[in-house]
Amino acid sequence: MKNSDILKVIRLQSVDSTNLEAKRLLQNGLYDQTLIIANEQTAGRGRLGRSFYSPKNTGIYFSYIYFPKDNQSIVNITARAAVSVAKVLENLCGISPEIKWVNDIYLNGKKVCGILCEAVNDVSANAINAIIVGIGINITTEAFPDEISSIAGSLNSDINPQTLAVEIAENLKNSIEISESFLEYYKRHSLVLGKSITFIENGVSQEATAIGIDDNAGLIIKLKNGKTRTLSTGEISIKI
Ligand code: BTN
Repeated sequence: MKNSDILKVIRLQSVDSTNLEAKRLLQNGLYDQTLIIANEQTAGRGRLGRSFYSPKNTGIYFSYIYFPKDNQSIVNITARAAVSVAKVLENLCGISPEIKWVNDIYLNGKKVCGILCEAVNDVSANAINAIIVGIGINITTEAFPDEISSIAGSLNSDINPQTLAVEIAENLKNSIEISESFLEYYKRHSLVLGKSITFIENGVSQEATAIGIDDNAGLIIKLKNGKTRTLSTGEISIKI
């Protein structure tokens, strides 16, 4: 039996958020690697407290619950997840997506997928208990709300959404379990390397050039004053 054969899958027509559903299941004692897939989210959650537009039947929204054996196995999990998504989209849909640091997936200059990883801590053991990797993909969505209409796009693919979700979760699971190296792929498919970017720090917008990705998937940037530094988290915009 392949490792991937033991992934338990829960399929829902509609849910508030698959990440929230994952947390509820964990609170109720779930202890199996589980993939929760929904055709619609009524309160989809994005990074930095944003919402994630999740209309029914035109995208796929899923959360993979992974129980790490140690903290080392999940270092860089968001970047690793982005690579799994991009690889599966390449293989199943025949497209060439790009990765916008840290973990947004773009196609033809539009964001087609967002990833939100959340750790659920076992406070008593002072350790990470589970990681929820939440992934939302716009497959055929055409109309987006005004606030995201200029940046959001879709795969425009006839791929089976459920297959896509399962393949991505299996790819990620295997990637973690065999400690597959993913940084080379990540760099090759980067949307940002070599580009002028802006980032906000302490409320101030700064300009820089993205010049590299380090071993922790941090973004190495060169500031206007010629100094280099590494961003480990946050969000950047690409200057057009
Ligand atoms: C982002 O782009 O800011 C991250 C979006 C993550 C969306 C996915 S959809 C499945 C899972 N459930 C959620 O509520 N969010 C993630």
